[in-house]
Amino acid sequence: MTTVGIDAIEIRTGKLQLDLAETFAPAQDEDPGKYTKGLGLHVSSFPDVYEDIVTMAANAAHRLMERKGLTPDDIGRIDVATESAFDNSKPVSTYVAGCLEQVYDDDFHHANKGERKFACIAGTQSLDDAYNWIRAGRNRGRKALVIATDTALYARDDPGEATQGAGAVAMIVDENPDFVELSTDQGFGSADETDFLKPNQQFPSVDGKRSMKVYLARMREAMEDLERAGVDLHPDDFALIPFHTPFPGMVRKAAALGYRHVCRDTDVELTLAEEIGRQPRREEFKTQEQFFDAIEEYTDALTETERYEDWYADTIEPTLEIAREVGNWYTGSVHVARVAGLKHALEHDRDLTGAQLLVASYGSGAQAEIHAETVADGWKAEIEALNVDDQLDRRYDISFAEYERIHDVHNHDTDDYADVEELTTPSEEFVFDGWGRMGE
Ligand code: CAA
Repeated sequence: MTTVGIDAIEIRTGKLQLDLAETFAPAQDEDPGKYTKGLGLHVSSFPDVYEDIVTMAANAAHRLMERKGLTPDDIGRIDVATESAFDNSKPVSTYVAGCLEQVYDDDFHHANKGERKFACIAGTQSLDDAYNWIRAGRNRGRKALVIATDTALYARDDPGEATQGAGAVAMIVDENPDFVELSTDQGFGSADETDFLKPNQQFPSVDGKRSMKVYLARMREAMEDLERAGVDLHPDDFALIPFHTPFPGMVRKAAALGYRHVCRDTDVELTLAEEIGRQPRREEFKTQEQFFDAIEEYTDALTETERYEDWYADTIEPTLEIAREVGNWYTGSVHVARVAGLKHALEHDRDLTGAQLLVASYGSGAQAEIHAETVADGWKAEIEALNVDDQLDRRYDISFAEYERIHDVHNHDTDDYADVEELTTPSEEFVFDGWGRMGE
C-alpha cells in the first residue's frame, strides 16, 4: 500500500519572547522555579504588532513551498487549524491563500479550503482530513497544505498566563512522504467537557486544574481505544512519544500515566515488581478512592525507577526542548513536539529511520487522539532544512512594560494596532497591516 504522511514541515515562531524567570516571575511576585521547574517553561513566544495567526501561517507556508519547490498548482487543499480565529464565517485558510497568491503567479482557486476547530487537537484532525482525502484518491496527484496556527494568549493574571505562546506549523501531506508516514490505526477518547472555552471572546475561560484531569482522562481512553483497535502498546516499541504540550509539566504527568498503563501485564511490570511491587488492581480495593490512592503511590514509585527515568530521558524529554522555549502553541504544539524530538535525535546522531513514534494529541472540550507514525527515509534532510534555532535566537526579549502593551494590542483592537510601534523590523515577509491588507 502506498504510504501517506507528512512530507515536509516548517515552523514559524512569533518574533518576541517573554522570559518567564527573569521578567514575568518578578512582576508576578512568584518564585521563578514555579515556571522553570514546576511548569517546565523558560520563555513564551509572542507575536509582534505586525504578526497574527494569518501572517505566521502564511510565512511558514511560504518558506515550506519555496523549500520544496511547490507552486499553488501542486496543492489541492489548504486546511487551517486554529482556536484563535477572528472570523466566524470565512476560514483562515482563505486569508492565508490570499497572502500566498500575492507572491506566486498562480492562484489557489482549484484548492479546497477549510478551517478545523476542536481546541488544540484540531491540528491533528486537519492532518487526518488530509490523510483521508489522499487515501480516498480524491487528491488527483495534488498535495495538502495543513497549517496549525495560534496566538495562545490568556487574560492578564489568569493562571494560564504563564503558559502563553504564539506560532504556526505548516505541513505538506502527500503520498510517499519524506518525513513521517501516518498509520491507519487511531485511538480516541472524547467527552463533552467545559474545562476550557472561548465563546466569542478573545481570551479563554479556563478551569486550569480541571483541564489537567480531563487531559489525563481522555488520554487514557485514547490508549484503551487504540488497544481495542488491535494495537499492542509496549513502552519500548516507540523511539519518541510527542504529546500535546501546553507546558512540559503536563507531559510529565501524561507520560507517567501512559507508561504505567501500557506496562500493565507486560514483561516490564514483572521486572519492576521486585523493586516496587505489582500495579494495584481495582478488584483488590473496597473503594474507588483507596484504589486511586494506591495507583498514585505506585506511579510515584514507578517514576523514580532507573528504568522509567531512562525511558523518559530517551522518549519524552527530547520532545519538550522547543516547547520550553516557546510555550503553548495550541494546535501546533504536538507538531512542535514531534519536530523537537527528531531534531534532538539528529543532533545526537540517533538514526531513527524506520522507527515508530506514538503521537498523542489533545484538545480541551475534550478529545485525545493517539496514533503511530513511522519515521521516513528523508527525515534528516527535513530537520536539517529547518531554521528553528535561528528564529528562536533572533527573537526580541521584551520588558514587562512592553509585554503589557503587546498583550493589549493582541486583544484584536484595530486602533491599538495602528498606535503601537513594532519592536522588530519585518523583512521580506507577510505582515499584518490592518484588516484585509497583508503583503510581503
Ligand atoms: N519550584 C518548583 N515547582 C513549583 C514551585 C517552585 N517554586 N511553585 C510551584 N511549583 C509547581 C507546583 O507544585 C505545580 O506542579 P505539580 O502540578 O506537579 O504539583 C506546578 O509548579 C504549577 O504550580 P501551580 O499548580 O500552583 O500553578 P497554577 O495553579 O498557578 O497554574 C495551571 C497551573 C492551572 C496549569 C495554569 O498554568 C493554567 O491554567 N494553564 C492553562 C490550562 C492548561 O494548560 N491546562 C493543561 C491541560 S488542557 C490542554 O492541554 C489544552 C490547552 O492547550 C490549554
